[in-house]
Amino acid sequence: MLENANALKAQFEEALSKVTTTAEIDALRIEYAGKKGLVSSLMNDLKNVPNDQKKEAGMVINQVKQFVEEQIKLKTEELIKLEEQRKIDEAESYDESLPTDLGLGSYHPITLIQREVEDIFSSMGFIVEDYSEIVDDYHCFEALNIPKHHPARDMQDTYYLDNGQLLKTHTSAAQNYIMRKYGAPVRAIFPGRCFRNESTDACHENTFFQLEGIMIDEDISISNLIYFMKTMLSEVFKQDITVRLRPGFFPFVEPGFELDIQCTICHGKGCPSCKNSGWLELCPCGMIHPNVLTYGGIDTEKYTGFAFGLGLTRLAMMKYGIKDIRMLNSGSLKALSQFTDK
Ligand code: PHE
Repeated sequence: MLENANALKAQFEEALSKVTTTAEIDALRIEYAGKKGLVSSLMNDLKNVPNDQKKEAGMVINQVKQFVEEQIKLKTEELIKLEEQRKIDEAESYDESLPTDLGLGSYHPITLIQREVEDIFSSMGFIVEDYSEIVDDYHCFEALNIPKHHPARDMQDTYYLDNGQLLKTHTSAAQNYIMRKYGAPVRAIFPGRCFRNESTDACHENTFFQLEGIMIDEDISISNLIYFMKTMLSEVFKQDITVRLRPGFFPFVEPGFELDIQCTICHGKGCPSCKNSGWLELCPCGMIHPNVLTYGGIDTEKYTGFAFGLGLTRLAMMKYGIKDIRMLNSGSLKALSQFTDK
């Protein structure tokens, strides 16, 4: 009996030394320490041992049992650690045969133009703010003096969410938030992604970028607006830009305008890019409606302000000569990597 116990122990140690995986140690555990394992069958053999030797034999078998269990436990812990480390090493390893000359990535044209416009406005004392893409009806419409029946609320244009909120259709949705946050006087721009439920073609996208700006102070007038827009656009296009204002209607500005720039290609003579008109429509704007200022908690006796909604996507297309708006959301690295921060 004692020999059997010692032989089993030796046999176990020999097998244990060959184990290298958790699957193998599991198999070994079942073989030796399982209910029908080798240690259990040694226990069963105890009944054949003469009574006077039973006590000692029992002790020895128990020692073997404890030894087997303890060793399996230690080995299992060790192997789990090893296998975890192996996984980390594998994840961190890389294929050395991969080509190394992949080159640097490039910024998206919208990012380039956004940063440029942000820098220009920052240098003129404007704060750059961020705002969420999911907004409520109040901020997107109500606080902007857009009455319930206005077509901008039409289900065709606006993506409504199940919870009653919506994807912002224009960056003007942040006007109220900025006024409430900073009060007056304030100069702020807030770029953002906008969504409208439109069918797409070369000139239309359901997802596009705008950059809104507001300036509120004492004695702000349309000439301030023209000055800031002209300065910014001349910097972006690296040439003196001529702008003009046409009347435009938006419930949140009074008076409202469409700001056009003289075509940068033909300088007003007329060419295919400007459909022979000599002008390109770029930026709706106007003097902030007193109702909107009041919703924003601004004293309309003391302050006036202007707001503009620059079409950032449109500006990028103009600056980089992009003919099809869909290219911007295409994710095509080949097409998008042509543009650099010049
Ligand atoms: N939010 C308007 C739009 O997207 C543009 C706009 C902004 C007009 C600010 C006037 C002033 O159509």
